[in-house]
Amino acid sequence: MQSKPNIRISPIFDQSVGNIWSDFTRIEVACDLKYDYQVSKETKVYIRNRNAEEWKNQKYTFAFGAYNGKKMVGFASGYRENKQEMYLHNLYVLPEYKGKGIGKTLLEQCERNATLVTDKMMLISLPGALSFYEKHKYDIRDERNCEKFLPKEIIGVVPVFKSIDWLQNVKINLDVDIAEFEQYKNLPMFAYVSMGRAIDALGIRMPNGEDKIWTNPKKSGMKDFYEKKLLNALAKVR
Ligand SMILES: CC(C)(COP(=O)(O)OP(=O)(O)OC[C@H]1O[C@@H](n2cnc3c(N)ncnc32)[C@H](O)[C@@H]1OP(=O)(O)O)[C@@H](O)C(=O)NCCC(=O)NCCS
Repeated sequence: MQSKPNIRISPIFDQSVGNIWSDFTRIEVACDLKYDYQVSKETKVYIRNRNAEEWKNQKYTFAFGAYNGKKMVGFASGYRENKQEMYLHNLYVLPEYKGKGIGKTLLEQCERNATLVTDKMMLISLPGALSFYEKHKYDIRDERNCEKFLPKEIIGVVPVFKSIDWLQNVKINLDVDIAEFEQYKNLPMFAYVSMGRAIDALGIRMPNGEDKIWTNPKKSGMKDFYEKKLLNALAKVR
């Protein structure tokens, strides 16, 4: 009997196009999307290149990969469209991995991260995915206009992508100068978020492999708890 693959969903902290785009393209091509209009091969290539360009130029980007061992088998990515909205730019699962809960988990992770800085997720759906989004409580006006209001609060550990871009938009209860975090961009980083979307702890995997943690000095009784949570999250980074 074949065993069910053990799929890991992981934040992608180094989002440079060169690093991730070939995986994204491989999965997107394997999905062999059926459009309700004719799309030539050249147009598909053009769209993919344009997507990569858009991605490079965005500031508040987020991305998650689903992995079977080292192989990426699904991914979701997006960016902040404006102060009120996040835009889910891509969500794809390899055909042979569909129906195992991967798409749902990727979507939930993106929504959770978006809640940190905004109130709404927006997306343009392919015709075949409309009922998937409907099932996940998206308000579908038409394919090009699907949205969902996100919960007001988020509590717990979330990945922080491109550190400085995101951190400038949230309340930080730490004794740190956020400007210094520019140097940590693209490193694995997680935050512990408390009520009011405030960050009470931050953990980073440094280039030398050591994990560095900052916690809210006014909540010293919680220090061990925050450290445990963040070290645990960092330990799972591939
Ligand atoms: C749409 C897609 C991302 C869903 O991923 P998936 O891993 O197969 O979905 P999941 O297994 O997580 O499904 C979660 C739930 O949604 C349901 N679901 C999945 N695809 C669905 C669909 N197309 N229509 C309606 N429901 C769907 C599942 O039955 C499951 O229901 P359950 O929670 O009651 O068991 C995937 O099918 C895909 O990559 N499609 C091709 C590319 C695409 O269209 N992407 C969207 C671009 S906008």
